[in-house]
Amino acid sequence: MAVGEKITISVIKADIGGWPGHSRVHPQLVETAEEVLAKAKEEGTIIDFYVAYAGDDLQLIMTHKKGVDSPDVHGLAWKAFEEATKVAKELGLYGAGQDLLKDAFSGNVRGMGPGVAEMEITLRKSEPIVTFHMDKTEPGAFNLPIFRMFADPFNTAGLVIDPKMHMGFRFEVWDILKHKRVILNTPEEVYDLLALIGAKSRYVIKRVYPKEGHPIPKDEPVAVVSTEKLYEIAGEYVGKDDPVAIVRAQSGLPALGEVLEPFAFPHLVSGWMRGSHNGPIMPVPMNYANPTRFDGPPRVVALGWQISPEGKLVGPVDLFDDPAFDWARQKALEITDYMRRHGPFEPHRLPLEDMEYTTLPGVLKRLEERFEDIE
Ligand code: F6R
Ligand code: MG
Ligand code: MG
Repeated sequence: MAVGEKITISVIKADIGGWPGHSRVHPQLVETAEEVLAKAKEEGTIIDFYVAYAGDDLQLIMTHKKGVDSPDVHGLAWKAFEEATKVAKELGLYGAGQDLLKDAFSGNVRGMGPGVAEMEITLRKSEPIVTFHMDKTEPGAFNLPIFRMFADPFNTAGLVIDPKMHMGFRFEVWDILKHKRVILNTPEEVYDLLALIGAKSRYVIKRVYPKEGHPIPKDEPVAVVSTEKLYEIAGEYVGKDDPVAIVRAQSGLPALGEVLEPFAFPHLVSGWMRGSHNGPIMPVPMNYANPTRFDGPPRVVALGWQISPEGKLVGPVDLFDDPAFDWARQKALEITDYMRRHGPFEPHRLPLEDMEYTTLPGVLKRLEERFEDIE
């Protein structure tokens, strides 16, 4: 492994049991996953790994040479989740095995419950990346921050100042309802992009690519987001998707500080209690990534890494463990109070169409026969 060679970074996560309730991951689950991945590292399946947590989601961060969607790497993640589920069951953790929605692994964890963000990249001379891990929210929660990083000059000074970035980026947007995708160029099509991704429960940013002329090849992603929708797999409400993302930084990409800057504003996301409420996303260190108040507020953790020429994960640096984000946390608490005062009323509670995949329809159904026609 060396600079100029291809390497894959895979972040695969699942909720396989909470401690207590849906709040956080028990340390024994982390240890169990570490044991499974350490063995695979010894055997050469992966180059390096780190096991993190965000809320009740166990996060496997891995580097390897096998490309995206590798059955070996996905199979390894599935095994780590299965082994940790056994421990979760022994400990009686809440919702043990919750996100392992299928009984047997069949080559790829996509569509089986876990969330996946992966990118195969050509290792630059120095490769700084950030992995983001959210709990109690959905993939569209990344739309606003990823847009700001790669397309908003008020966030990313480099878009104006750095000749390597001045041409802008390409956004791959998925329509997760109709299973279609479109590529939009910024800055030319920025209004079209916003027309879509402002509707964050339906249109989600899947990847960002550089444009022709950028030092990074144009078909290599510079950001990727997990877009798995649990309700589509399970056919019923089984919690929010709690997405993850990988973002590359520096040298013609947003600087580390431009990657983090969007989170200084705790924007409103869908999820929180019962996956049914709008609330602010609070940037926190891993240590505080344990949703409590009203099962929230939703959290985001940012881990910083350098990938060594051998493909080692040099990190993590717990990037939100910094007083620079105190104000955002304070603001998030203020918004939490304000939103909570609405109780069961919209827009704290999600609009009806978004409640379709929660437990509310079960309640509404019971009232159906009592409705009578009005003139
Ligand atoms: C949200 C989440 C929690 C649960 C809530 C009720 O994504 O996981 O807010 O929805 O704690 O959980 P149950 O129905 O398991 O008691
Ligand atoms: Mg849970
Ligand atoms: Mg979760």
